[in-house]
Amino acid sequence: MKKILITGGAGFIGSHVVRRFVNKYPDYQVYNLDALTYAGNLENIKDIENNSNYNFIKGDIVDEIFVNELFSMHNFDGVLHLAAESHVDRSIEDPLAFVKTNVIGTMNLLNAVKSQWKNNFEGKRFYHISTDEVYGSLGSEGLFTETTPYDPNSPYSASKASSDHFVRAYGETYGLPYVLTNCSNNYGSYHFPEKLIPLFINNIINNKPLPVYGDGNYTRDWLFVEDHAAAIDLVFHEGKNHETYNIGGFNEWKNIDLVKLLCQIMDEKLGREEGTSKELITYVKDRPGHDLRYAIDASKINRELGWNPSVTFEEGLERTINWYLNNEEWLQNVTSGAYKDYYKKQYS
Ligand code: NAD
Ligand code: DAU
Repeated sequence: MKKILITGGAGFIGSHVVRRFVNKYPDYQVYNLDALTYAGNLENIKDIENNSNYNFIKGDIVDEIFVNELFSMHNFDGVLHLAAESHVDRSIEDPLAFVKTNVIGTMNLLNAVKSQWKNNFEGKRFYHISTDEVYGSLGSEGLFTETTPYDPNSPYSASKASSDHFVRAYGETYGLPYVLTNCSNNYGSYHFPEKLIPLFINNIINNKPLPVYGDGNYTRDWLFVEDHAAAIDLVFHEGKNHETYNIGGFNEWKNIDLVKLLCQIMDEKLGREEGTSKELITYVKDRPGHDLRYAIDASKINRELGWNPSVTFEEGLERTINWYLNNEEWLQNVTSGAYKDYYKKQYS
């Protein structure tokens, strides 16, 4: 029986990872540690909350005393660390919150595993989940590889880059058995509707403007979240210690083209006349320091571990849109209250 700690398991990607581990590994006890910030929601993992191998712990990784107490109560075999402040726009408003959770929180976990595992690292693993944004921005050519130099441009990516460096440093200095992955933009169910795809789905449903930053010619590489969870499972179990793997969808889209595609599919789904939702597109002030293009070379994880995305963008978008249309209550719950204040501040 292994004890596995997953941080941030009430968030978007974390909930998919928790669900996968709880269902696929009945001999693991899975501990989901989450502070339930605005982005964390226990509804995201309601379907597995009564499983006998699932445990929820509410707590803040920034709180060093709490983290140390948790590790004094449980001897974890593995940690999958996803808890983070994850939204670039919020990092521009409040960078310190990102330093606290993404840097200090990661440090607290690293120190806790280091002192718990001491020098007996047999069968132990710390898995740090990171982002392609640490590499900065690409021009119109090229791809990020595992050896691309770090060049973060937003407070969010700077905080993630910093935490990546600490993880690597603990590996080099103390021999901590870590693996690290840098992934591109995810989409899918339970995605908080302040990120591009769920925000625009929600706005189309409600006939609200679709705020495209700048000229819309920014490019992102989109990966279906369940494919990311599958990659995380694989790297956790079969990745090599002290290695980094890039994960991506081989699926680049300019924002404006993606938004037009979303509008077209949503018109069909909602039985609206073709072109109706496109009328909602509104070009707004650009994001400061907006990275032009992200694109991942995921050949290493394919070559060494045999991973490939399994869901096409067409299928993934269809499943995602259907999920939001069928989960109106979830959408309404997360877009009431504080969401409205955020929205007003960001887009007015
Ligand atoms: P999210 O914002 O949806 O979820 C983050 C979760 O962490 C929430 O449940 C939140 O309550 C929890 N959390 C935040 N601060 C905490 C704290 N101090 N203590 C404990 N829990 C805390 O994020 P996401 O999009 O699911 O991203 C998860 C991870 O994957 C992050 O590390 C992110 O950097 C990385 N990542 C995300 C993407 C993406 O496209 N969303 C892509 C690549 C990498
Ligand atoms: O690349 C991985 C990263 O992807 C993750 O590390 C982050 O946690 C995740 O939030 C995401 O970051 P982005 O900044 O790329 O995602 P976001 O959905 O915020 O924006 C996607 C693109 O859409 C980006 O070019 C900005 C643009 N955009 C976004 C919003 C919210 C708009 O044009 N309008 C908007 O209202």
